[in-house]
Amino acid sequence: MDFRRNILITGGAGFIGSHVVRLFVNKYPDYHIICLDKLTYAGNLANLKDIEDVPNYTFIKADICDYETIQSLMQQYNIDGIIHLAAESHVDRSIKDPFTFARTNVMGTLSLLQAAKLYWESQPERYDGKLFYHISTDEVYGALELSHPEGIEPPFTTTASSGEHHLAYGTDFFYETTKYNPHSPYSASKASSDHFVRAFHDTYGMPTIVTNCSNNYGPYQFPEKLIPLFINNIRRRKPLPVYGKGENVRDWLYVVDHARAIDIIFHKGEPAETYNIGGFNEWKNIDLIKVMIKTVDRLLGNPEGYSDELVTYVTDRAGHDLRYAIDSTKLKNELGWEPSLQFEEGIEKTVRWYLDNQEWLDNIISGDYERYYDDMYKNR
Ligand code: NAD
Ligand code: DAU
Repeated sequence: MDFRRNILITGGAGFIGSHVVRLFVNKYPDYHIICLDKLTYAGNLANLKDIEDVPNYTFIKADICDYETIQSLMQQYNIDGIIHLAAESHVDRSIKDPFTFARTNVMGTLSLLQAAKLYWESQPERYDGKLFYHISTDEVYGALELSHPEGIEPPFTTTASSGEHHLAYGTDFFYETTKYNPHSPYSASKASSDHFVRAFHDTYGMPTIVTNCSNNYGPYQFPEKLIPLFINNIRRRKPLPVYGKGENVRDWLYVVDHARAIDIIFHKGEPAETYNIGGFNEWKNIDLIKVMIKTVDRLLGNPEGYSDELVTYVTDRAGHDLRYAIDSTKLKNELGWEPSLQFEEGIEKTVRWYLDNQEWLDNIISGDYERYYDDMYKNR
């Protein structure tokens, strides 16, 4: 069958990747979606079960660092667009094992870029109609201060560059122009990969786009990240390890809204541009944790306050960034994207999903992960 486009999506069996693959496979039946994933501990084909038999979907188990394989896949499938999500993504793991992060996030990205360059430059139309779209994070910008106008307690209302008012914990945001200042091995590896992507545009003329998104939440997130970990621990009545005083601030976006943004940017974004993606939705960790406990207890039919005793303050994450907050005004003004879900609705949907899909959780948290998790937390 001849497809209008052949798009390689890397990391498609992971959390965000699976939502992007699902959206593209269902929305664009005339595109061939080639989902490539190494299936590390974070990759899970169960995330894509509902689309595995759809005719425009192909799964390939491969490592992005395997340059020869990537080169031959570019040719075999005549790839004209790449949406690159494959990465090691967990900050705590990067603190323990930075080499794996440099290998996958930096060398893996370079391997994809070089394979795309050679294949696209070998074709008569060269870079026409091609795009290398790299998915990155707001963590490359570093950390923002928790600051507030005198006499006003945070969160307070502040004005974004769009002129709209939002609740925030500081007066500054990350903009597309903010200087890179990564602190963790994870964010340093992502920053490095972003630089390589831009270098391929500037040096070889490859059409590239980089987007930097804030914290995602929603179905299919690996339960080592705050929200699914805590939902899982509440249902199993295990301690909820709050790092430090729980005062760090994150800006949360429902994952389907991130996937929608990726779709819009892939089709309408300007090559060589950067777009920030975020929901103007800042939460102090401890406040978010209280909302989660309340929601899980309510949905499980527990009395209010039943799981409060699980909150356990533990040693802080090394180099823990204080506050992330994205200004996504450029994306709104230029491409018309806005989050579709309010946080209250998103968190309710998310908690319900994990409680309705306990088998998915139970399959993941067996074996190696259980051992890794116990080892990670036993000394905290
Ligand atoms: P994830 O850890 O859930 O998924 C990563 C996927 O990449 C997994 O399926 C894994 O098997 C695959 N992978 C890892 N190494 C690979 C390799 N060498 N070759 C092929 N596949 C490999 O991550 P996620 O949270 O879905 O994040 C996806 C991307 O989005 C990452 O690039 C991350 O930096 C970025 N991002 C994540 C967030 C977030 O809040 N989760 C926010 C902004 C940006
Ligand atoms: O900002 C985007 C980034 O968001 C992505 O690039 C990363 O891939 C993604 O993992 C996420 O990074 P964070 O470090 O912010 O997410 P995490 O879920 O690990 O932690 C969220 C906050 O909760 C952070 O302040 C640390 C804290 N935390 C986390 C865990 C796992 C705890 O207090 N206890 C925990 O057990």
